[in-house]
Amino acid sequence: EQHRLIDETLAEFKLTHEQLLQVKKRMRAEMEAGLKKKTHDTAKVKMLPTFVRSTPDGTENGDFLALDLGGTNFRVLLVKIRSGKRRTVEMHNKIYAIPIEVMQGTGEELFDHIVTCISDFLDYMGIKGARLPLGFTFSFPCKQTSLDAVSSLVSFQSASVLMPDLVSLPSYHPRDTYRKEFDLDVVAVVNDTVGTMMTCAYEDPNCEIGLIVGTGSNACYMEEMRNIEMVDGEQGRMCVNTEWGAFGDNGCLDDIRTIYDKAVDDFSLNAGKQRYEKMISGMYLGEIVRNILIDFTKRGFLFRGQISETLKTRHIFETKFLSQIESDRLALLQVRTILQQLGLNSTCDDSIIVKTVCGAVSRRAAQLCGAGMAAIVDKIRENRGLERLEITVGVDGTLYKLHPHFSRIMHQTVKELAPNCDVTFLLSEDGSGKGAALITAVGCRLREAEQ
Ligand code: BG6
Ligand code: GLC
Repeated sequence: EQHRLIDETLAEFKLTHEQLLQVKKRMRAEMEAGLKKKTHDTAKVKMLPTFVRSTPDGTENGDFLALDLGGTNFRVLLVKIRSGKRRTVEMHNKIYAIPIEVMQGTGEELFDHIVTCISDFLDYMGIKGARLPLGFTFSFPCKQTSLDAVSSLVSFQSASVLMPDLVSLPSYHPRDTYRKEFDLDVVAVVNDTVGTMMTCAYEDPNCEIGLIVGTGSNACYMEEMRNIEMVDGEQGRMCVNTEWGAFGDNGCLDDIRTIYDKAVDDFSLNAGKQRYEKMISGMYLGEIVRNILIDFTKRGFLFRGQISETLKTRHIFETKFLSQIESDRLALLQVRTILQQLGLNSTCDDSIIVKTVCGAVSRRAAQLCGAGMAAIVDKIRENRGLERLEITVGVDGTLYKLHPHFSRIMHQTVKELAPNCDVTFLLSEDGSGKGAALITAVGCRLREAEQ
């Protein structure tokens, strides 16, 4: 009886092929709405133009600074790019912590801290006072009016707990802050998906899509200029940052959201927002699992019906724990040990149930992500009037990298939902800072040409 009830609950996480096709179709419709002038302002999937008009061609050259403010880390990098036959990229980087009080402080405090880190890094590299062009990758959305100007940060939607106060900087130009402090020159502001796409495109010219599945989830791709109504011009292509995390914020995914998804959303910092991301990314999967476990405990299926303080603690199931629990190499006894480390005293039966719950939640996440990706690759294929499309997706993010099954299930789903596309997934080994430096190089060249 207990087994039946557990199966019944987890069945809600099993999506049929039909349902996944629906998700793909809805994603496509939402993307179209974001691209059109008439509907752009009300669209939830924002489809932000990035002013990046091509992927790298190997002629990029010079020394650059890059800042990578991602979900998990803040990195400052020095990137030396050499063009020519034996093109090379040499990177030096240092990771800096962002103290909790800075994270929870104002946007200005955060940027002050960033400036301090840059100063330390230049010292560390022994190039204090050097004037280097800088590219800045962000793991949150910003509306751009050109490659180097952020006209407004599209509200606080970041998956990470970072910076709720950035909203209070409606028109922030990174250029201004840095110029006051030292002679730095911000040439490009880049979303992390775009940085990732560019990093991978330097190795594989077929890479025209960027995907992040980490703390948050998002994708970008090369769209035809004629389809981007928010930007003048019809010729060529431009990279669009979809901000797909907000897919579903108008209710269009409500039929597949469970009571657990709703609970996670209600108790999050940005309730009602980023609903698709909250079903997919590392910041939330553990929370969905925890909500199911609480419910199962209340119903007496788990932990002898005792809800411990630990189980009530938010964010205990980090991506790394989920990944360990689901690892096939682990014996059940080891799963028990992990749960014990988390402070959850489990029997062997409990461990089996926990593992099953984790599997159901992460499988659905990978399938939903695959459905979104299928919408993108098929759109690109249709844009180009092709029967078949061969394309590479550059990917980064801790969930994608650490989880034992996520990537495989996601790839499989894309294959099933977009059978006319041959999609290769290329893991970004260098983060998105390298891509930001490449974009900065192109930005410098364009600027010189204009002068
Ligand atoms: C990093 C990229 O490798 O991955 C960042 O350099 C990106 O730009 C990050 O934001 C995403 O992963 P996570 O798991 O840290 O959110
Ligand atoms: C969030 C942000 C988005 C970013 C993604 C991955 O969804 O809104 O800008 O790309 O997280 O880090």
